[in-house]
Amino acid sequence: MNFLEKRIIKDGKVLSEHVLKVDSFLNHQIDPNLMLEIGKEFADRFANDGVTKIVTIESSGIAPAVMAGLFLKVPVVFARKKKSLTLNGDLLTASVHSFTKNETNEISISKKYVNKEDRVLIIDDFLANGQAALGLVDIVQQSGAKVKGIGIVIEKSFQQGTQILTKQGLRIESIARIASLENGEVTFINEKVE
Ligand code: G4P
Ligand code: NA
Ligand code: NA
Repeated sequence: MNFLEKRIIKDGKVLSEHVLKVDSFLNHQIDPNLMLEIGKEFADRFANDGVTKIVTIESSGIAPAVMAGLFLKVPVVFARKKKSLTLNGDLLTASVHSFTKNETNEISISKKYVNKEDRVLIIDDFLANGQAALGLVDIVQQSGAKVKGIGIVIEKSFQQGTQILTKQGLRIESIARIASLENGEVTFINEKVE
């Protein structure tokens, strides 16, 4: 198990066969040291991809994305889910439907911060059905920039997201890959029997 998988076993709570609660270090309270380690891992995996910008989505994608930006020495842009008072003018938008929450959000970023010269690393906290990631890919492509890959903190490999994104030729790098949450237990992909 890697550092994140160990932390998930230690502090994660399986809420159902589909949902893992990690609000003690990622989704509510945030562990800065863990985020630093996650950021370094993303930076290592995308070190040779000429990344010029990181794009994520509020709110839980921001912490790991900022740490990755620190190591890759590039700015981080987060897509907003609500219209902002000051974020106006030329916006790139995409519609993102959450099957989990049964709601659709219009997500947006300003054209000012992503353009056709950029090579973008997309980062998010969870990959479930892949709709948020697809929306981010859409926005980045609208800007004319290239998507170099998608960095995911926790991938639920038993849901559709991984397959959908991979089919589009997108490279996904997930730090923890969950094969199953059945029987109240977290099982990782490639878990080594020791
Ligand atoms: P998708 O983008 O992959 O299709 O995912 P989905 O609509 O299912 O996800 C909706 C929200 O639920 C997202 O957060 C996502 O990160 C979160 N989520 C999905 N599966 C899990 C899970 O097993 N555990 C936890 N803790 N979260 C999960 P969000 O609403 O955008 O919230 P936030 O980024 O503000 O935290
Ligand atoms: Na989230
Ligand atoms: Na998220």
